[in-house]
Amino acid sequence: MPRPPASSRPRERQKAPPKALADGPCSFYAAVPPGLEPVVVRELALHGVEGQVEPGGVRFQGPLRLARLAGELWTPSRLQVEVATGHARSLEELAALTRKAEWRAFLPPGARVEVEASCSGSRLHFREAIERKVAFAVQDAAGRPRERDARVQPVRVRLVEDLATLSVDAGGELLHRRGWRLQPGRAPIRETIASALLFMAGWQADEVLLDPLCGSGTIPIEAARRAAGMRPGEGRSYAFEGWPALRGLSLAGPKPGGARPAPATATIYGSDRDPGAIAAAQDNAARARVKPRWSRIDLAELEAPAPSGLVLTNPPWGERVGDEARALDVLGQALRGPLSGWRALFLVPDAGLALRVDRRARCLTTFQSGGLRIGAFVVEP
Ligand SMILES: C[S@@+](CC[C@H](N)C(=O)[O-])C[C@H]1O[C@@H](n2cnc3c(N)ncnc32)[C@H](O)[C@@H]1O
Repeated sequence: MPRPPASSRPRERQKAPPKALADGPCSFYAAVPPGLEPVVVRELALHGVEGQVEPGGVRFQGPLRLARLAGELWTPSRLQVEVATGHARSLEELAALTRKAEWRAFLPPGARVEVEASCSGSRLHFREAIERKVAFAVQDAAGRPRERDARVQPVRVRLVEDLATLSVDAGGELLHRRGWRLQPGRAPIRETIASALLFMAGWQADEVLLDPLCGSGTIPIEAARRAAGMRPGEGRSYAFEGWPALRGLSLAGPKPGGARPAPATATIYGSDRDPGAIAAAQDNAARARVKPRWSRIDLAELEAPAPSGLVLTNPPWGERVGDEARALDVLGQALRGPLSGWRALFLVPDAGLALRVDRRARCLTTFQSGGLRIGAFVVEP
């Protein structure tokens, strides 16, 4: 992504962005792996927002201050706000469209934009040229970055058959980067997907939860943070917090939506046979400020920690983690043995592998992740 050079011009006085912008209607797009859109719709509904499914995301309308949802939603990978849309058949048309938007509302003085373009069936198709043109047009309208390490505002340009849509990213960094997972382990699941599975399973904090193949602990940690009433990225920062148009908007205050507050005895277990995985999970949990109960144990030897609950896991199934697909057989034996009173939701790429786990397995949904189609399968006790 091109970065326009820092300007040596003296600091320009920024006019305050129009207040109407903060209260006026905006179009938002919450991006999510294709197949998980309905989960985002359900989560938005908890915040009183009605979303419409589009491929790979959910669109909704509302005042700009809804950008704070970037810090409240557990399941989307990005949250974008549309700032301009119109036809662009040449770079000059695209630059003119870009200059029309209220960039000063989104760029704190001296910030730097990073532009990412995508094109489909459009006359303009050289992504680098598009990104450079838009980056310069934005910085012309909003003022040049003052320092090399200026705050970065991601901007997206989407061209579909000459119709250009420009958006600003309310998160800045991708939303799955919560800030606590510094030790990813092997074949980790994204934090946003772990949370989507919890929503899909309809898990509430008063149900015992177990991930017996927990790796770096993503599923237990996401669950524990939700149960504790924390925000998904508590501790990290978001681009919208620096937007001049939203001056004064903070994430502090009562939290709408999310899971019910956990009872003090909320029980969340994570286990794995690999001591390195458990050490990583413990470190990640300490950074996330939660305390699931960890144990290093082979699933084949696991005793049920409670008569019933939810098993939620992404087992290794070969392609990604060596020949460990045997773990699928062990998972199935556990679901028919010590965990027979538990319901389960697990991820595998196809129905053949799901049936290898358990003949009762039923596909809840499939979604795209890391270039693969993955299925979420459930087994009821
Ligand atoms: C795909 S990884 C899980 C990744 C995890 N969800 C995360 O986000 O880091 C699968 C894990 O299963 C563990 N595993 C494989 N066979 C096992 C068994 N029989 N008992 C316990 N753990 C096992 C591996 O050590 C590995 O950490």
